[in-house]
Amino acid sequence: MNHTELAFPTETAFENNIEVSEETSSPDVVRRIGKLIIGNCVEVMRGWPEGAIDLTVTSPPYDKLRDYNGYEFPFEEIANELYRVTADGGVVVWVVGDRINGGRSLTSFRQAIYFQEIGFAAHDVMIYQKKNTPFMRSNAYTNAYEMMFVLSKGKPKTFNALKEPTRRHGMELLTHNKLPDGINKKKRGELKKEKTRTNIWPYAVGLGGTTRDRIAFQHPAVFPEKLAYEHIYSWSNPGDMVLDPMCGSGTTGKMALLNDRDFKGIDISAEYIEIARERLTQCDLEVAVEHA
Ligand SMILES: C[S@@+](CC[C@H](N)C(=O)[O-])C[C@H]1O[C@@H](n2cnc3c(N)ncnc32)[C@H](O)[C@@H]1O
Repeated sequence: MNHTELAFPTETAFENNIEVSEETSSPDVVRRIGKLIIGNCVEVMRGWPEGAIDLTVTSPPYDKLRDYNGYEFPFEEIANELYRVTADGGVVVWVVGDRINGGRSLTSFRQAIYFQEIGFAAHDVMIYQKKNTPFMRSNAYTNAYEMMFVLSKGKPKTFNALKEPTRRHGMELLTHNKLPDGINKKKRGELKKEKTRTNIWPYAVGLGGTTRDRIAFQHPAVFPEKLAYEHIYSWSNPGDMVLDPMCGSGTTGKMALLNDRDFKGIDISAEYIEIARERLTQCDLEVAVEHA
């Protein structure tokens, strides 16, 4: 499967090397209806059966860094419920930064360790590199990243690797060293045209980078659409159920629905759910809103 097969709306064309499809839907694609639920995600998830979710892409509030409406963040209960509702082989992508106030809070690491303790495999620890708006410190290097913990329930059942072009390709004399004498041997071999990407993913942030949907910025902490898309592409297939239990402005939902996945989004704030509803509707996506 090639990532160019998936759909983007042309108005949210991304820089970098993803080709943009003109089509956001085809006659073969079922038009999916997203669900947005107002409520505490712990209570909402408790009402769901085990293993109902194939992929979660989410970002929690960071160390009370921002003043979210109706703030309530029982981390351990959320983690436990996420484990229960994740299908075998399902994945949770937990995008998180630390508060920096004097030193770093290291909350992100504590959360990752807790996830591991309750049964998730720490399948990968990836970096969301911010190409702009770095956080400046007078006595430390400028912070320009957040963590993306890729947690799996058992071995991930889906991995659609994103590829990038190699600088050199074609037939070449390649160095290899198979013998114990330590002397490098040369052998003709083919350098591939593309390779699997690294686990450091750079994104521009702000209007035009994060998204072009102005309405999304009524929420204080939106993550990039491209980040959501790339995880959805990597860890799920069309028809899978994607969750964002703290969905804010609805970024994960937008990219899931545009790419033929089912979607459930929860947020404790009715105001943020309304932003998400309006945003998805503006993108010509169907959503139903429920109160928990
Ligand atoms: C970092 S923001 C998510 C932003 C989102 N990724 C986006 O792109 O817009 C975290 C969200 O978690 C929500 N939240 C905090 N505690 C919650 C809880 N217990 N249940 C559901 N949502 C919660 C906040 O209202 C906030 O919108």
